[in-house]
Amino acid sequence: MSGDEKKKPAEPSAFRSSKWFGPQDRNGFMHRSWMKNQGTPQRMFDGRPVIGICNTWSELTPCNGHFRQLAEHVKRGVIEAGGFPVEFPVMSLGETLLRPTAMLFRNLVSMDVEESIRANPIDGVVLLCGCDKTTPALVMGAASCDLPTIVVSGGPMLNGKFQGRDIGSGTSLFAMSEDVRAGKLSAAEFLDAEACMSRSAGHCMTMGTASTMACLIEALGLSLPHNGAIPAVDARRNTLANESGRRIVDMVKDDLTLSKILDRRSFENAIRINAAIGGSTNAIIHLLAIAGRIGIPLSLEDFEAFGSDMPLLVDLLPSGRFLMEGFYYAGGLPAVWQALGDRLDGSARSVTGCSMQENNADAPLWNAQVIRTPDAPVKPRAGIKVLKGNIAPDGAIVKPSAATPSLMKHRGKAIVFEGLTDFRARIDDPTLDVDETTILVMRGVGLKGYPGMPEVGNMPLPRKLLERGIRDMVRISDARMSGTAYGTIVLHVAPEAAVGGPLALVQTGDTIELDVEAGRLHLDISQEEFARRQAATTTHVAPATGGYEQLFLQHVLQPDKGADFDFLVGRRGSAVADNAH
Ligand code: FES
Repeated sequence: MSGDEKKKPAEPSAFRSSKWFGPQDRNGFMHRSWMKNQGTPQRMFDGRPVIGICNTWSELTPCNGHFRQLAEHVKRGVIEAGGFPVEFPVMSLGETLLRPTAMLFRNLVSMDVEESIRANPIDGVVLLCGCDKTTPALVMGAASCDLPTIVVSGGPMLNGKFQGRDIGSGTSLFAMSEDVRAGKLSAAEFLDAEACMSRSAGHCMTMGTASTMACLIEALGLSLPHNGAIPAVDARRNTLANESGRRIVDMVKDDLTLSKILDRRSFENAIRINAAIGGSTNAIIHLLAIAGRIGIPLSLEDFEAFGSDMPLLVDLLPSGRFLMEGFYYAGGLPAVWQALGDRLDGSARSVTGCSMQENNADAPLWNAQVIRTPDAPVKPRAGIKVLKGNIAPDGAIVKPSAATPSLMKHRGKAIVFEGLTDFRARIDDPTLDVDETTILVMRGVGLKGYPGMPEVGNMPLPRKLLERGIRDMVRISDARMSGTAYGTIVLHVAPEAAVGGPLALVQTGDTIELDVEAGRLHLDISQEEFARRQAATTTHVAPATGGYEQLFLQHVLQPDKGADFDFLVGRRGSAVADNAH
């Protein structure tokens, strides 16, 4: 490059960043000069698109621990396409370590993302997402800002390998921990399994929430094809990052914003895909929140309407047998798309600029054991079943594909636990009056009760029943559960007990009726008794301790509304006042 070119002043351009980097005045000097302290050459300020790379790397989020390298591959792609990449961090959410629960902070991160994008000279953004909550948090924040946006997921870990067999994140942990409690697995073997389960970079390799959300991002059209399943350590994950970096530059030139991609078709497709892959129940809350941010009407009932008649095609834990590595080798999400055919709306748009059908046309299927066809599904009907009844007037959900068929219609006596501490104190009490027909009820573990709605809905079974070989019971709560969990588990009861929802009225010894097919969850007491208990109910919202938690308690919406903050719903755009330096 000649000396003249190096000194060439910034050119005004149509891009948003030119308001920062274009002016030849005191502010323009300041915006460019400080960036040059990182070695940025003058030619980067020639009016080219500035691409933000929103990074959730953290050693405290092990699922995203490889994101610094992943970001480098995105940067290469951006530079190849003539863009100027700028990487920036946001708060990261590690599902395994954060207390009381990562969900408490999803909306906080979404605010971090939204304000970081809007306040900076960014024309388009690449979201690096991995561990469960990082995906919805980043997409929610970006949706409220509505710049051209593409998602690059970190990819799942390789299959766990333990004692000669495959084991899956979460799902196998839950099973092995019950085996330890039942005396079938030693403490030494259990310790050995830790390193055998998590043996490469990446997020949980079952169809848990992270893999579900990565697949649904692909189904929504917000990533390049195959984003959902390529293993984290497969070189093709880096290639996808590079290609995504190249693509976002053209998306900026075409002004292909999120709101030009996402519409009802996108979300209906995502709901159907979630059913076909046996996806996580957490996806309901996250899709509702993302739709709310971008301004697309979506309700809990839509999950029933579009998902409940879908076949389960993907045979992955926790609903089936295999793991994400096998899913990718079998053809990944494009093969599922092809298999579902007319059940999806192929005209939905995507980041590629092509329709979803064009993206996935002729996708091959390499292993019909892992990805089935609708005429030979894992289960003929999957999806999320929405339950309503006198203890869940605003709905509750159950995941039939992960449940025991014989328990889908069940009447049983309730044992009620007042939160997690009470549950842990009593569940293994040998005198607890419980058998396999009992319904375990836990309340006070919702958004405002705990707070944060932790993943404790998959309550461990009583030891004395485990020792008898019992592996499932009906469990009901206002909590969530891990996407890797399984069982006949009713979740997200709304309104939650802490705000006076009728789950608070259930007493130990009451009979509860669950009828998944009929969508019914009913407390079998007289209307008079129901009214009497309701009149005596008080709320039990967790005490506000100040700080962010207070904001959460004051503004979080119930799960059937996506658990977003009331003041964050909607699209606010990327406009920002001129700087005032
Ligand atoms: Fe991060 Fe499961 S703990 S995806």
